[in-house]
Amino acid sequence: MPKDSFGREIDYLRISLIDACNLRCVYCMPEHARFALLKDLLTAAQIESVARAAVSVGYRKFRLTGGEPTLRPDLVEIVERLAAVKGVGDLAMTTNAVTLPKLAHRLKQAGLKRVNVHLDSLDPQNLRQQMRWGSLEDIWAGIMAAEEAGLTPIKLNAVVAAGFNESDVVDLARLTIDRNWHVRFIELMPLGTGECAQLSIQRYVSNIETRRRIELALGPLMELSPTTLADESRNYRLANTRGIIGFISPVSAPYCGNCNRMRLTADGKFHLCLLNDDELDVKAALMNGGGQEKVAQILLKAVALKPTGHRLLQGRSTTERLMHQLGG
Ligand code: 5AD
Ligand code: SF4
Repeated sequence: MPKDSFGREIDYLRISLIDACNLRCVYCMPEHARFALLKDLLTAAQIESVARAAVSVGYRKFRLTGGEPTLRPDLVEIVERLAAVKGVGDLAMTTNAVTLPKLAHRLKQAGLKRVNVHLDSLDPQNLRQQMRWGSLEDIWAGIMAAEEAGLTPIKLNAVVAAGFNESDVVDLARLTIDRNWHVRFIELMPLGTGECAQLSIQRYVSNIETRRRIELALGPLMELSPTTLADESRNYRLANTRGIIGFISPVSAPYCGNCNRMRLTADGKFHLCLLNDDELDVKAALMNGGGQEKVAQILLKAVALKPTGHRLLQGRSTTERLMHQLGG
C-alpha cells in the first residue's frame, strides 16, 4: 500500500476530467470563469494509463470529478476503460446530475457504480441563487434517472452557505426519512484568492450549527460507527428513517489525519492536498511515452510528498486553483 511520510495510506484517486461546468455555483467559480481547452486535457488513454499505474501500486478506489465530468464528450469511453482495468474495485462520480437523464443508463452499462450529486436546496429560488445556472427541476430529474439506472446508493452533497440555504438543511435532511439516500452537509472552504474565497469565508456555517438546526426540527441524530476510517463524512441517522445524514466538516473538525486521497487534475498534475498548492506533473511523462512504471514512480513520489494537512485556520489555502479545477 502506498504510504505517505505521516503513515497515512493513500489509495484513493480522484480524477478530475474537465474544469468546465454547466452550472456556476457562487462559491465554486466566477460567473465568467475561463476553462482549459479540451485539447490540453489528458486524453481517455492517458487517464487509463494513470489508473493502471495507480492500481499497480495498490489503488482500488477511483472517483471521477470535474468541474462537471459529464461535460467530457468521451465520458462513456473513459468509464469503460477504467471499469475494464483489473483492480479498479470502486468507480464513482461526483456530478450536478443535470445531464443524467440522458447519460445515467449508458454510464451504468459502461461500469460506473454510483454517483454523488451536488444539490444545495429544495427551494427553487434559493437553489438558483446559490447554484446560479442550476434548476431544481433539472437536478431532481437527474437524481431520479441515476436511481432508476441503479447508480446507487445515491449520495447528495449540500454546501451550506449563510444567507442562502442554511435553513434549507432541514428539508434536505428530511429526504432521508423515506429514502435510503445519504444526505451530506459540507462546510464552505475558501479556495483561491478571489470572490469565491471571500464568499466562502463570509458565508461559512459550521456543521455544529447545521446539526443543531436539523436536530431542533427533526429530533436527535444517532451516530453511526464509521465504516472506513477515511470516510470524511461523520454519519448519523434520525430515528425510524431509511437514509443517512452526514457532515463533512473540514473546518470545524478537520479529518486530515485520516486522509487517503490523491487528486489528478484534468490538465495532468497530481495535486497533493485539496487545500494546498503542491503539485507534481505527470502529463509530460505520459506525452514522452513514459510507461506504467514511470507513472507509478511519479505517483509514489506525490504520495511521499503529501503535506500533513490543511492550514485553513491559519488563513492559508490553495491559491493557484479553484474548486472547479480540483473536483472537491
Ligand atoms: N467549499 C466546499 N465545497 C465546495 N464545493 C464546491 N465549492 C466548494 C467550496 N467552496 C463542492 C460541491 C461539489 C464538489 C465538487 O465540491 O458540493 O459537489
Ligand atoms: Fe459545477 Fe459543482 Fe462547481 Fe457547482 S460546485 S459550479 S455544480 S463544479
